[in-house]
Amino acid sequence: MPRLETVHEEETRLAPPSAGTLGEAARLLAEGRLVAFPTETVYGLGADARNALAVARLYEAKGRPRFNPLIVHVASRGEAEELAAFDARASRLADMFWPGPLTLVLPRREPSPIAELATAGLATVALRVPASTVAGALLVEFGGPVAAPSANPSGALSPTRAEHVREGLFGKVALILDGGPCEAGIESTIVGFARGEPRLLRPGALPRAAIEAAIGPLGAAGGGISAPGQLESHYAPRAPLRLGARDVRPGEALLAFGHEVPEGAALTLNLSDHGDLVDAAASLFGHLRALDAAVAAGRARSIAVMPIPEDGLGEAINDRLARAAAPRS
Ligand code: TXA
Ligand code: MG
Repeated sequence: MPRLETVHEEETRLAPPSAGTLGEAARLLAEGRLVAFPTETVYGLGADARNALAVARLYEAKGRPRFNPLIVHVASRGEAEELAAFDARASRLADMFWPGPLTLVLPRREPSPIAELATAGLATVALRVPASTVAGALLVEFGGPVAAPSANPSGALSPTRAEHVREGLFGKVALILDGGPCEAGIESTIVGFARGEPRLLRPGALPRAAIEAAIGPLGAAGGGISAPGQLESHYAPRAPLRLGARDVRPGEALLAFGHEVPEGAALTLNLSDHGDLVDAAASLFGHLRALDAAVAAGRARSIAVMPIPEDGLGEAINDRLARAAAPRS
């Protein structure tokens, strides 16, 4: 099995948008590869939002220490409505500001085609219909939802030119569509509807006043929710979790990693039997959910998790596991 460093080395071409390069970008996305594209806010690093492995590569390329939930970009309001439930105010904002620099966080429709890793296991999904013609054309050509954070390494400035993307992500992205400088240069405004009252989760390119003129006052994000990993609604298994497990105790289900798996578990799911952290990230939320369901069904009493190395995506995986294992408040 090749190591992921070699698997994910890309040549990184930069090309102006044309019928040919847009078609190629759509094919690359369908293959699970990463494509950077301009939006009216900043350049996005896109991956097929339905493909957990592609989304894992996206986190890896950005070097994200955590799995923050990502914004899912779609071509139209109709596609957005297939993925999430809109209430009257959310519908009004979509009517007024889509396509445009507004992201709506809405209850996710189940079953959802969106990979759980893209929404970091949350019951909500962040959706946006971008206004840039290049982004719009790419989404139509691809014909599916594209998860796209800003196309910069984690912690670096957001890119507003194709050149910035190349500087930050060379070797990690297959193709950069060069649509010139972004109009807004600042990320979209995020409004959340998850708990009834609309809240401003992130100020951005669409001013608060425009939104409040449409639907009335917005609540504050509140409760220190600015760090997405601390969202109250963040998915955590109900079953107790024991981390760093090198053996299995009676009644435990096992979340394994690698090929040396201890025996005796009521049920074992392996994040990656060949020890690939990108594969592990792709299956993390799905496996946790399945083991949690097994505990709920009485097939096991708790979940043991084998040690995960801290390098690469391991840091984000361990961050998420530590949160999942933390005492509930
Ligand atoms: O302008 C933009 O929005 C750019 C361009 C590329 O479209 N995209 C962007 O995406 O900024 P990203 O992934 O960097 O922003 C994601 C942020 C998260 O950090 C989180 O604050 C919020 O969106 N978010 C996403 N899903 C969420 C959810 N389900 N609940 C709450 N917040 C969410
Ligand atoms: Mg960003």
